[in-house]
Formats: sequence, structure tokens, C-alpha cells
Amino acid sequence: MIPYGKQNITDKDIATVVDVLKSDFITQGPRVQQFEQAIADYCQAQHVVAANSATSALHIACQALNLQQGDWLWTSPISFVASANCGRYCGAQVDFVDIDATTVNICPQKLANKLDIAEREGKLPKVLVVVHMAGLSCDMQAISKLAKRYKFAIIEDASHAIGGQYQGKPVGNCQYSDISIFSFHPVKIITTAEGGVAVTNNTELARKMRLYASHGVTRDQENFQNGIYEPWYYEQQYLGQNYRMTELQGALGISQLDRIDDIIEQRNLLATRYQKALSGLPLCWQQPQSDSLSAYHLFIIRLDDNAKLNRSELFHALRAQNIGVNVHYIPIHTQPDYQRLGFKPGDFPAAEYYYQGALSLPLYPELTNEAFEHIVTTLRALLCDSTSE
Ligand SMILES: Cc1ncc(COP(=O)(O)O)c(C=O)c1O
Repeated sequence: MIPYGKQNITDKDIATVVDVLKSDFITQGPRVQQFEQAIADYCQAQHVVAANSATSALHIACQALNLQQGDWLWTSPISFVASANCGRYCGAQVDFVDIDATTVNICPQKLANKLDIAEREGKLPKVLVVVHMAGLSCDMQAISKLAKRYKFAIIEDASHAIGGQYQGKPVGNCQYSDISIFSFHPVKIITTAEGGVAVTNNTELARKMRLYASHGVTRDQENFQNGIYEPWYYEQQYLGQNYRMTELQGALGISQLDRIDDIIEQRNLLATRYQKALSGLPLCWQQPQSDSLSAYHLFIIRLDDNAKLNRSELFHALRAQNIGVNVHYIPIHTQPDYQRLGFKPGDFPAAEYYYQGALSLPLYPELTNEAFEHIVTTLRALLCDSTSE
């Protein structure tokens, strides 16, 4: 089966990890700090806090923003559940903003309308998690204008988007947000097996996130509250977790980040090849805004309503040909755990409409020409002349 995503591991990556295994520190050593600095440099941002997943990074981001019971977190219904669950870990209530059909990202106009109503009802969000779906940045300038007017914080869930650009600058530079999150799960752009980071230009948010990722414990005497200054002394200042990244992961991350520009170039080339090879079929795909470069974590096609095959039929037909297509994502509000909170199908029509036709095609730098040709030939055979009269 051709997978929809696959990690890219070189001999150098392996050697780097082996070096760490032979060294004094396999956790809490220098590599993670070096990886944090490398990400900060790459994204042109000031602070980076590593974590053992993007899910953990989203959680510490919400904690640092002091999200708590009685607060609201809003996000996109078209994302992995982690983008919403982070609010619930903090006891906050979660709501969604429907997507724009062309970008598959949160629609700024729908956000503005929803904020207007929420203001009148006294239910404005404290935190908005925007999701750069498949690697394509949201319209951050428009969204940050709304954040200033309605006074909410922005977390960019850029799990898909490291290496992407918005207005000619790296996604994750936090120009229009408080915190950005990246994921390094193996299907993502670069990997640390499991892993994630939170990026910010705010020193205090960085300090808090670092504490929350490590039990809420500090050894920094300058910030001690109990007035005890002994060499063994540490203080727990918040109720945190152990979300630390290991040195093995840090070293792998540094090695992977070294070739990210090549990876992004290859992903963009493949996306362009798909667009050319599939033109004329009853399909559409995400339309990048002119001022952005997608990292192309995913290449998602959406079947037109007039295609003879529906998404389920196409999914099964492609899988039968060993093409490991996937679906990103089932609208979060339709999950049983969210329906129990009162959400129901029909609440976010654009997201649900998108989901009915969405299919992610295999996309990763090592996708061979042979595999690519097999995918597009099979799609053409299944969909050509399959438009109903
Ligand atoms: C948009 C988004 N946010 C968050 C996550 C969670 O990432 P992780 O697996 O690193 O916890 C994912 C993972 O698929 C994701 O796609």
C-alpha cells in the first residue's frame, strides 16, 4: 500500500540519534535546547518550548494563557481533535467557527459575525486556535485585527505548516499571534517520532509554558517565591505535567530541520504535479492565497457534487488499488464526545459539506514517479467521464 504520508529518515539522522545514545544525556541535556534555538532561528521568533507532542504543546499554551473554567476557546471544526481538546483540558468550554470552502481554514467573515453575537451575549472567547489546514496559513492579518478588537488571544495550530510562509515570512513567527504550535509526528513535514513545540515572542508566556511542560517546577532562583536559596532547592509554582522532549528527539529534530527547505520544495513540486495531472476531473483543491506558501503537509482533493462516485466509493476503489488515501478530518463537533456537549450535525455546514467530499492523496518527498503515475492514472480512470449528465 502506498501510504498517504511517510517519514524521511537519512543515515545522518540515524547517526545523530546513535551519538545521543552513547552520550551522557538521553534526556534534559543540550540537544533539546539546540533544537529549540534552531526552530526559533528558522521561524524568526524569540522563544521556543519543546514538548513531547503538539497536543502537549497546545495544552501548555492554553495553560500559559490562563485559560480556565468559565472561559471559551474557539477553533476550526476541520482539524484533528487535539486543536479543540486543549481547551477542555483546562476546564474551558469549546466552540467552533465554520470554515471558508476555498481555503478550508477558519473564515474571517464568519468569525467576525460570531464575535459580534458573542459580544452581545457576553460569551466572547478568551483563546482562538486557528488551524493552518494542510500547511496553508489562515488569513492571520484579518484574524489578528479581530483579536485586538475583541481582546482574545490567538494560538496558531501550525502542526501542518512548518516551512510554510505567510506574507513572505515564516509561519510560526507569531507576528499576528501569541503562540504557534508545530507537530513532529512522523507524517508531518519533519519528525522527532512524537514531538511538538510552542513558539512565542512573549518572554512571560515562554517562561510559563516551560514550567507547565515540566511539573510546574522551576530551579531559577530569580523567580523563587519562598525565599530559600539552597543548591538543592526547587519550587513547584504551578500544577504542570511532564511533557518534556527527550534528547534523542531533539537530536533527530536538528538533523531533520537541516533539510526542511528541500522537503518543502519537493512537497510543493508534487502538489503542482497533482494539480496539473488531475485538471479537468470533477475535483477541486485548496486555493492558496496569493501571499502564502503552503507547506503541503497534505494534498486534499474534494469531489464535485456531480462526480458519479461518492467519496466513500472513491476511497474504497483507490484502497483496492493499494493507494493509501485518507480523510482529513471528520468535523470535530460530530464526534460522539462533542455531541455529548450539545453539538449536532448541521451546526457547521461548510465544514460538513467539505468533509463529505474530502480525500487526502499520498504526498511525501520519497513518493516515487511510478507511485505518482499509478495514483493519477487510477484517479483518471475512475473519474473520467464519471460526471453525471
Ligand atoms: C492540526 C493538528 N493539531 C494537533 C495535532 C496533534 O499533534 P501530535 O500528534 O503531535 O500531538 C495534529 C496531529 O495530527 C494535527 O493535525
